[in-house]
Amino acid sequence: MQVIHTLAELRQQLARFDSPAFVPTMGNLHDGHLALVRHARQLGDVTVASIFVNRLQFLPHEDFDSYPRTLEADCAKLEAAGCDIVFAPSEKELYPQPQTFKVHAPAALGDILEGHFRPGFFTGVSTVVMKLFQCVFSEAKGQRHAVFGKKDYQQLMVIRQLVQQFALPVTVHGVDTERAASGLALSSRNGYLSEAERSEATQLSLALKSLIAAVLGGEHNLAPLEQQAMQALAARGWQPDYLTVRRRVDLQVPQGHEFQPGELVALGAARLGSTRLIDNLEF
Ligand code: PAJ
Repeated sequence: MQVIHTLAELRQQLARFDSPAFVPTMGNLHDGHLALVRHARQLGDVTVASIFVNRLQFLPHEDFDSYPRTLEADCAKLEAAGCDIVFAPSEKELYPQPQTFKVHAPAALGDILEGHFRPGFFTGVSTVVMKLFQCVFSEAKGQRHAVFGKKDYQQLMVIRQLVQQFALPVTVHGVDTERAASGLALSSRNGYLSEAERSEATQLSLALKSLIAAVLGGEHNLAPLEQQAMQALAARGWQPDYLTVRRRVDLQVPQGHEFQPGELVALGAARLGSTRLIDNLEF
C-alpha cells in the first residue's frame, strides 16, 4: 500500500490504472470505514482511500481542531483491509488557495435536517468531494466508483445528486451502517464518549426503532410522535436536534398515502454530553 501526500504523485500513480474505487474519509478509522474499503475492493482495479479532515465542513464552534488525527494507525488498518493507495494531503496541498469556489447542495436537500443544524455543512462536504473526485478520477479511463456509508444518509443523497446534476462520470455506492453489538452505529465521534455515555448512546437507535414501531403500528400523525421521541431522549439527559420519519427518496415528510414499507427512513441527531451523534434506519 502506498501513502501519498501530493496531488502530483497521486495522479502519477493512478495513471497506471483504469478504474479506481474511492473511499473518502476524515480518518480515525473504524470498522465502518473498513467495510467501505472492503466493498470498494470488489469494484475497481485499484482501491483508493483519502484521509483529510476538511475544515470547510466544520462550523467555528465544532470539533475541527480536536478531531482525532491518527494517520499511522489508520494506514495500518487500511493496509489490512486491502486498500492500495492512501491519499492524505495536507491542507496546503488540497487548498493551496482559500477554497472560495464552492459547490452548494440544493436547499431542499442541503438545508434540512443536518443542513439545518449545521449550516454550510453540505457545502463543505460537496466542495471537498467534488475536489477529491477531480484528484482521484482524473486519470481514469474506465468506470469510476465512489463508496459512501448510509450512516451519513443525507450526505449520501447529497453526493448522489451532485453526481447526477453535474453529470459526473462516477458510480456512487451506498454501504449499510456498521454497528457495535449494542446497536450503536460506529462513528469516529464515539471516541469522545465516556464509558457511561457509550452505553447510553445506544438509546439513539432504540429511539428510532420505537418511532418506526409506532409508524408501522399505524400511527401516521408524525409530529406528536417525533415530539414524544425527542422528549423521551431529553428526559434521559440528551439534547436532541431531530428525530424524524422521512421519505427515502427526498427526505421530505411523507404524506397520507406515502406510508409504504420500504419507502421510509427514520433519522435522528442528538447531543449526549458534548458529543453529537447521528443515526438512521430504513424501514
Ligand atoms: P467520515 O465521517 O470519516 O466518514 C467517511 C465515510 O465512512 C462516509 O461515507 C461515512 O458515511 C462512512 N461511515 C462512517 N461511519 C460508518 C458506519 N458505522 N458504517 C458504515 N459507513 C460509515 O463522511 C465523511 O467522513 C466526510 O464528510 C467526507 C465524505 C470524507 C468529506 O469530507
